[in-house]
Amino acid sequence: MQVKKALDHMSVGVCYYPEQWPVELWEDDFRRMRELGITNVRVAEFAWSIFEPEEGVYSFELFDHALELAHKHGIQVILGTPTATPPAWLTTRYPEVLNATFEGVAIQHGLRRHYNYSSPKYRELSASITRKMAEHYKDHPAVVGWQIDNEFNCETKEFYAPADHIAFRGWLKAKYGTLHALNKAWGTVFWSQTYTDWDQVHLPRMTTGGRQPNPHLALDEKRFISDNVISYARIQADIIRETAPRHWVTTNGLFGGLDNHRMTGELLDFFSYDSYPQFSTLNHNPDEKDRLADRGWSQTLSVVRSISPRFCVMEQQAGPGGWVNRMDMPSPKPGQMRLWTYQSIAHGANMVVYFRWRTATFGQEMYWHGLNDYHNRENRRVREARWIGKEIAAISERAANTTYAADIAILRDYDNEWDGEYDVWHGPFAWTSGTAWFKALQYRHVPCDIRYINEQTTLAELQTYKTLVYPHPTIMTDKTAALLEQYAREGGILIFGCRTGYKDEKGHCYMRPFPGAAAGMCGISVEEFTMVKGSREPVSMHWQETGELAEAVTGADDFNDILHPESDSVEVVAAYNSDYYAGKPAVTRNRIGKGEVWYYGAVFNRSAAEQIIDRLGIASPVRDWLTLPQGVELAVREDANGPLYFLLNYGEEAAVARISKPMRNLLTDRQLQGEFEMEGFGVVILTEAL
Ligand code: GLA
Repeated sequence: MQVKKALDHMSVGVCYYPEQWPVELWEDDFRRMRELGITNVRVAEFAWSIFEPEEGVYSFELFDHALELAHKHGIQVILGTPTATPPAWLTTRYPEVLNATFEGVAIQHGLRRHYNYSSPKYRELSASITRKMAEHYKDHPAVVGWQIDNEFNCETKEFYAPADHIAFRGWLKAKYGTLHALNKAWGTVFWSQTYTDWDQVHLPRMTTGGRQPNPHLALDEKRFISDNVISYARIQADIIRETAPRHWVTTNGLFGGLDNHRMTGELLDFFSYDSYPQFSTLNHNPDEKDRLADRGWSQTLSVVRSISPRFCVMEQQAGPGGWVNRMDMPSPKPGQMRLWTYQSIAHGANMVVYFRWRTATFGQEMYWHGLNDYHNRENRRVREARWIGKEIAAISERAANTTYAADIAILRDYDNEWDGEYDVWHGPFAWTSGTAWFKALQYRHVPCDIRYINEQTTLAELQTYKTLVYPHPTIMTDKTAALLEQYAREGGILIFGCRTGYKDEKGHCYMRPFPGAAAGMCGISVEEFTMVKGSREPVSMHWQETGELAEAVTGADDFNDILHPESDSVEVVAAYNSDYYAGKPAVTRNRIGKGEVWYYGAVFNRSAAEQIIDRLGIASPVRDWLTLPQGVELAVREDANGPLYFLLNYGEEAAVARISKPMRNLLTDRQLQGEFEMEGFGVVILTEAL
């Protein structure tokens, strides 16, 4: 019900910081916002020292006045709890709330997120400020919802304060019960690491050669941090729900070390993301010819969608980004801000909130540009926002109930992500392979989901997809393997890459032939394997000719599993071309039940993914009637009234598309047929002709 209220229509908002501006500007700001079609503001997420200038002394005048003016202009308010920025009085009086570096150095006041989630004192003070704010604003006519904290685990996802070591120990006691069980789970008999007293147990600390913790401890550290964030967030969520039950609750950002799916499921009405596609310009590599650049944000937005099918973008890039000392980004070109807004919407955003109304004239972020410049005169970004505001109001009724539709998903899971942050024998492969698949599907105009699975995932959830790609699930329990096998037996197509299935949930290697838990469904064993790096020459693989498909050669990148079919149902699709394993199987396809399981023995690249796509006949849903250039993304959102086809041109140049049946552009209400041109950074939303 809460989701319905917030996301049952499309809306545009903006982040606003009244505490940073002279009061004389506020009313004019709200008036101009409304004039641009902006209907909500997010405020207050860093304003702890305004609300509680001294411990236990609360002050609401500033925000009361701002909210009154917002309300007067018909603007709804999302309140942030200010706990990402504890005031100086707090950290000075209670230094135990501060985070510490790995080396144990306390992180001091002066930036943000300098606190730790474990300190009982910080939890208590966070609860007090949240309760006071919720009590004060629970009946305010302008307030509709809350953002808890700001971007959990942004700036850092590592916590080594004394309170964290204590909390970790408590977490381990709850998980393992006895030291004996902990010792077994962490394999501490190796190198005499055995613990004989709980006080000997810590989060990772300095080891010989730097930071080289026991790998099973390292995995538990990640799980602990995630649980710790969630238990901290729960304090605030519970208080808001209890005190202000009419309001919805969300939080924003997508950072590591946090199971956002569980947090959202247990605490939030929906998830919110902060989308800054211009970050793609910071690590630009001109040699990567098929680079996704800002289009790559669609991959992240797909993760957000897997948390909340419809969501809020709490911060949408509204100008060039930059801190004083880093992140020096180019300005979005005319039309790009609009394109990125529709990118968010195409992937499931119903509420888009720009960051920020006006660029700050002081502070760390005085180059993080908002819609308005310092001078406050109308500029082209403001004009673009007005255009967007009008459009979104017009499409809301038709589009708001739709959700993204895809037949194929790339699977991920938190355990492998977290284990892979430390284990270089599989970790780096996941991003490479996931992106290779995403790119291949993007450039073929095949909409694709990203889904996270865990022990609670059901067959029905998997069966919403015809095809699942699970690139390198190194940790795989027998339970997950059984679920995946059933998916394939009942008609699903499942694709694995190298390094699949050889670890259990503790991160220990199974004493079984690779691919361990996945061996049965794949119908193969891995005879041998090798990293392909250093002095090793690059290896390629040779794909067999089949049906109308010619032979092909693609790179067998980074790691090679040399495969051995164990069953007659296994077809060898490709073999290695060189090295001592030339001619040995590199890719296999096992038909089981009504479906099939593929094993690809290397790290995926785009060409290899395309070979599999072709061999499976995976094609764009618009292939019969729409031809799109590669630089245009296709995304589909649909509901009972049918699909909406979002076409997003990421190029600066005009793009020509061809359509063989009459369709209508929802944004202009014009009919399109035959060849049509999309302007640079242009957006079209196709729907059935009237
Ligand atoms: C994040 C934060 C904002 C702001 C922007 C720009 O998304 O949530 O407060 O700092 O980045 O740096």
